Amino acid sequence: MDIEKLISNYREEKDVAKKISRLREIISICDHHYYVKDESLISDREYDQLFAELVELEKKHPELITPDSPTQRVGGEPLKEFRNVVHNKPMLSLSNTYSFDEIIDFDRRVNDLLEGEKVEYFTELKYDGVAISIHYENLLFKLAVTRGDGFSGDDVTLNVKTIRNLPLRVNEVSFNGISLRNFEVRGEVYMNYNDFLKINEDRIANGERPFANPRNLASGTLKLLDPKEVAERPLRVVLYYLDVEGVQLTTQSENIEIMRKMGLPVSPYSKLCKNIQEVFNFINYWENRRHSIPFQIDGIVIKVNSIQQQERLGTIARAPRWAIAFKYEAEKATTKLKNIILQVGRTGIVTPVAELEPVKLGGSTISRATLHNADYIEELDLRIGDTVVVEKGGEVIPKVTGVILEERPDWAVKFIFPEYCTCGLNGRLVRLPGEVAYFCEHPECPWQVRRRIEHFASRNAMNIEGMGERVVDQLVTLGFLRNIASIYELHQKSQDLINIEKWGEKRVHNLLKSIEESKKRPLSKLIFALGIRHIGEATAKILALKFGSLDALMSASEQELMTINEIGEKIAKSIVNFFNNPKEREIIDKLKFYGLNFEEKETQFSEKFLEGKTFVFTGELSSLTRAEAKSKVERLGGKVISSVSKKTNFVVVGENPGSKYQEAKKLGVSILYEDDFLKLLNEVPLDSNQITKTDQPTLF
Ligand code: IVH
Repeated sequence: MDIEKLISNYREEKDVAKKISRLREIISICDHHYYVKDESLISDREYDQLFAELVELEKKHPELITPDSPTQRVGGEPLKEFRNVVHNKPMLSLSNTYSFDEIIDFDRRVNDLLEGEKVEYFTELKYDGVAISIHYENLLFKLAVTRGDGFSGDDVTLNVKTIRNLPLRVNEVSFNGISLRNFEVRGEVYMNYNDFLKINEDRIANGERPFANPRNLASGTLKLLDPKEVAERPLRVVLYYLDVEGVQLTTQSENIEIMRKMGLPVSPYSKLCKNIQEVFNFINYWENRRHSIPFQIDGIVIKVNSIQQQERLGTIARAPRWAIAFKYEAEKATTKLKNIILQVGRTGIVTPVAELEPVKLGGSTISRATLHNADYIEELDLRIGDTVVVEKGGEVIPKVTGVILEERPDWAVKFIFPEYCTCGLNGRLVRLPGEVAYFCEHPECPWQVRRRIEHFASRNAMNIEGMGERVVDQLVTLGFLRNIASIYELHQKSQDLINIEKWGEKRVHNLLKSIEESKKRPLSKLIFALGIRHIGEATAKILALKFGSLDALMSASEQELMTINEIGEKIAKSIVNFFNNPKEREIIDKLKFYGLNFEEKETQFSEKFLEGKTFVFTGELSSLTRAEAKSKVERLGGKVISSVSKKTNFVVVGENPGSKYQEAKKLGVSILYEDDFLKLLNEVPLDSNQITKTDQPTLF
């Protein structure tokens, strides 16, 4: 049945239980198409709408919530530690080889042991991720365990539950007349390369250390104790193993087919090979193509297809005799290290970079590679003039991984990490306690200034159109920009700007216009844009919400900051240090003087859109205190009262609500659960009139 029809059936359904189950089915079909088949059945907007409807229905009928509901993917409080779970059967590893000869040996061994029986191989991509074992009971997702030491691993059920391409309920599939309802599957949790890049970009922008490769990111994510954080990272899973207690399955290829029919994610790139020659063809086929799939693989797995034959071959030393992994060589090259230069990031972190004699590596020519930090150079005992090995593993930037000592010339010189930055302002390079990175202390370090202004103007920050990397570079070089505040002084120099080669009046006009517009950005954007170490977009939003104004945030103490759930000592210290720096204070004073918005929301609404509305609170809110909630409502023109009457506009319901909740229901007063309430405060569109008409029709 097509999706439109399912949606209209759901809309027409009157029975709540049936309505909810239809809605769940629609969402799970959409998820399957989106995450497994890579196609969208409906628009993102429509999907979000349906999902919100399900949340709403379940809120009204909590007794109808089931564990496989898509709303249950993210849930539960952060764990203190993971429980240890013993595997039904050990999770084995694979023997590896880089050579075709050893594959021929493998084929010979298999054939010898099976005494001339016909052998087929099933070849699969070797996904570069983290092994996982997943149990389904009665068709429902039940348990997920990491490989651990092969015999027992960590119970990461709540984390794996957030993985959107994994169904929480599988389709019922029969095998030889037996319905497969309870079973174990195994596979790999991984992340697509683009998602990995995006997360690293954000981390770098936030002054956090990027992950080395998608595998580290996937494994780091699985080990997070808070499933909510996991849910924000787009993990995926692919399955390649099925085990049903008491059922003798026939072949690997058939198992994959069964899992596919169950709706489980399996690789579309596997192949059944009749002989070892076809296996080689498969390996050769993927040698070049492995770079054009969205995720990283580190080789090919070759498996004897028949399960019976697998069982007869057995295992030795924790690796099966019936399978082998062929690994592609990491792309490496050797070249000369010409120099080591320092690169300064937005938060002042200085990274040493190797300047190389250009060399071909993995399809492109490279002339730079990262050296990570001073300790790394020390460990490699690297000297300028050395012949070095560069590698492009899964990493974004190639790295120097070794030195060929025999080729070291007499004149090779040791690199001494400079004491001062190359910025010309003599900024001292200092190392933070407990961190490997050095950073330039001078807030006006032109390298840092460039990165900071770029960040300030970037789309997710103040969104100043026409002020990208190149323009910033040009304006800093020409002396127009010295710090972020000087952006708002540019209008005084419009004539000089017009005279810049190839600029002209129109361009300057547009730039000044978008600079002017940026003054109205919400407080959270401004906080993010300031470029405080460790403050990403999400933290900036929380700070804006909690403090309501930049002045309040600036005067907050470390202790005060740490009372906020999401803020630990590191972040609190970073904020206090930032605002204690007189140079930063000076810049902020200027921003205020130039009229940037320092208050949460005020400038976003043309009017106080809660004017005349009354609110009653009952129960505990989890993300803000009663006092904070009250001040927010009041700031938007609303009034908070203590008892419910027919005239009350809203009753805001938190955890463990009191009798006011029942009262509100009885009197038919609009009920806002915490999410709704936050939405109302934060996500109302610019024009408050729109709210009544479209987004929140039932509220007003
Ligand atoms: S089969 C005995 N198939 O590689 C069977 N493993 O080096 C062992 N891996 O622990 C697993 N893709 O994490 C198998 N298509 C695939 C795989 C695969 C990735 C990982 C898995 C395993 C490791 C062994």
